[in-house]
Amino acid sequence: MKDKILGCYLVPYINKVKQFKKAVVIIDGFAGCGIYGDKSEGSPIIICKILESYNKKGIKAIGIFIDSDPGCFKELEKNIKYFKDKGIAITEFADFREIVPEIIKVAENSPTFFYIDPFGIAGLEFRHLENIFEKVNRSSTEVLVNFNYRVFYREIKAHPELVRDVMDGEYYKEILKDKTLSNDQKEKKILEKYKDLYRKYFNFVGSCPVMYKDEQDAKYHLIFATSHFDGLRLMNDIMGNVYREFYTKGRLFDTTPPEKRRDLKSLRETVINLMREIGITNRENIKKILVPKSFMRYKEGDYNTLISKLIKARKVYSKTGRSRINDQTPISLTKFPQEPKK
Ligand SMILES: C[S@@+](CC[C@H](N)C(=O)[O-])C[C@H]1O[C@@H](n2cnc3c(N)ncnc32)[C@H](O)[C@@H]1O
Repeated sequence: MKDKILGCYLVPYINKVKQFKKAVVIIDGFAGCGIYGDKSEGSPIIICKILESYNKKGIKAIGIFIDSDPGCFKELEKNIKYFKDKGIAITEFADFREIVPEIIKVAENSPTFFYIDPFGIAGLEFRHLENIFEKVNRSSTEVLVNFNYRVFYREIKAHPELVRDVMDGEYYKEILKDKTLSNDQKEKKILEKYKDLYRKYFNFVGSCPVMYKDEQDAKYHLIFATSHFDGLRLMNDIMGNVYREFYTKGRLFDTTPPEKRRDLKSLRETVINLMREIGITNRENIKKILVPKSFMRYKEGDYNTLISKLIKARKVYSKTGRSRINDQTPISLTKFPQEPKK
């Protein structure tokens, strides 16, 4: 799931940031060997292939691949030699935390996408990420982080200091002690609090639970942070598609958890209630409010189709009087006064 999400997102990301006319940088902070034991491609190869396709079109885009394990690094060097020779990939044998100053130097001047995928939580101490987020141009920086809740939970007793540093505080202790909450609710609450750390630096944060084949509990959560709504809406569709595919592909029945199903009736109610609250608005505003709240649950197209249907049914009115509208067309629950004919 995670490699699919990464691969699907990088193409529209580069398409968007190439407009800045600066080299695009993808930093794979915990790169791994490049190729898994079962010969499937790891993140470095997935990233390099995408970068190669852009470089062929004359768009400068490079990948920086960091790993601190000697054996793994050796493999990585071998596996991405082809891309290194072409000037698309740079490798660093280092601990991610220790090369933060160099990372900042590169990321300061370029649109940068960070992929942070450690095995557990070591390496994710928030102050290092914070150092980066404080310095780089956040309007063109985006981050995809693998947050492993199971490891976090396991490490509370074994390595309490590490957990405190990763979580940037001990707020999780109160939540874990709360007897009124189920384990599931605790996980959700802690995850939201953890995402709040990213919200200090980025306007939009969404996440996707990642499961193993036959398990229903999240193995870990992929957290995505961006300051652009365009990034969030793209990731909303990509993570949603990959997540729903997991529960449907190759299965006899759709096993998607009910609270994650695309229930268009419920979306209709939510949209109408919101419009009642905010008055005259447009589709973009509605999506900016509802996509972060119902992240992954609906496709962007669901909002568009629903609003067009509501206009056709005369439950919602558009300023242009047409049901085919764009994101900026004013819409309202009450009729717009007729413009006097010229
Ligand atoms: C989960 S694997 C990465 C898998 C890779 N992202 C992929 O999809 O193919 C994590 C990697 O991080 C490396 N690693 C662990 N701690 C590190 C650190 N502090 N700095 C850099 N790399 C680290 C490990 O050696 C391991 O290869």
